[in-house]
Amino acid sequence: MNKIDNSRNFMKSNYEEMKNIVSDQMKDLPQPPLQKEFDKDSEIINLIPIAKIKIRNDNLIQNIKNRKSHRRYKDESLTLEELSFLLWASQGVKSVYERNNKSYATLRTVPSGGARHPFETYLLINNVTGLKHGLYRYLAIEHKLMFIRKIENQSEMIIDATLGQKFTGKAAIVFIWSCIAYRGEWRYNIAAHKAMLLDAGHICQNLYLACEGINAGTCAIAAYDQEKVDNIIDVDGENEFSVYLSPVGKY
Ligand SMILES: Cc1cc2nc3c(=O)[nH]c(=O)nc-3n(C[C@H](O)[C@H](O)[C@H](O)COP(=O)(O)O)c2cc1C
Repeated sequence: MNKIDNSRNFMKSNYEEMKNIVSDQMKDLPQPPLQKEFDKDSEIINLIPIAKIKIRNDNLIQNIKNRKSHRRYKDESLTLEELSFLLWASQGVKSVYERNNKSYATLRTVPSGGARHPFETYLLINNVTGLKHGLYRYLAIEHKLMFIRKIENQSEMIIDATLGQKFTGKAAIVFIWSCIAYRGEWRYNIAAHKAMLLDAGHICQNLYLACEGINAGTCAIAAYDQEKVDNIIDVDGENEFSVYLSPVGKY
C-alpha cells in the first residue's frame, strides 16, 4: 500500500477490524488518568470561574457569522478573565463522571468520542495581564493554570517550530494541544486515532467562537515541526505529542 492509501485508510472507519480486537478496557486493564498528573508544589494560578465571567459579545449567531482566521494581532494584552474564558470554552470540565466509585470520564464544553478527552492544553504566554512569559499547562479539572517554565527567545522558538509562520510570534498566547494517545486507545484501540483527531477540531472551533466573544482572533495551525513543538512543551513525542496549535491575539 502506498503512503497516500495508508493515510486515506486512517480517515476511514476501522470498526470491521475492531470486531476481532479486544481492547485494554475489555481486558480490565487500569484506565489511564483523566488528566496528566502535576506536581502540587508547582506554581498554580487560580482562573476565574465561568459563572463570574462577563463576555462582551455573547450573541452566538453573530459570533458564528464573524468567525474567521486572524493572523494579525495588536500588541495588546488579554486579561486573566479573558484567558479563563478561552480555556473554559475550549477544554473546560463541566463534571466528572464516576463509575464504581472511580473517576471514569470528564464531560466538557466540547464533545469527545466516548468522552475520552485525550488532550492536554499547553500555553505559551506572551501578553496576559499579571502573568509572566513562559510555558503553562491548563489543569482543566481544577480550572487552574500551572506555570511550567520560562522559555528563552519564546517568540523566535515558536516561529521556527511553526515553519516560519511569523504571526505565531506576535500572538498574546499560543494554544498548543497535545494528545495522550493511550487515553483513547485504552477503549478504542486502532479506532481511537481517527476519533481523537476529530475531537481536536471541536476544541479549536470552540476557541474560534470564544475569541469572537472577546474581540480576539485565532488561527488554527497544523503546519508545524513535530519534534520542535514537542520539545517546547516538554513531552516525549510518543506517549504524548502535539497535534494542533492556535495563536490568539487582539485584532
Ligand atoms: C486543520 C487546519 C489546519 C490549519 N493550518 C493552518 C496553518 O498551519 N497556517 C495557517 O495560516 N492557517 C491554517 N489554517 C487556517 C485555514 O487556512 C483557514 O481556516 C482557511 O483558509 C479558511 O479561512 P477562515 O478560517 O478565515 O474561514 C488551518 C485550518 C485548519 C482547520
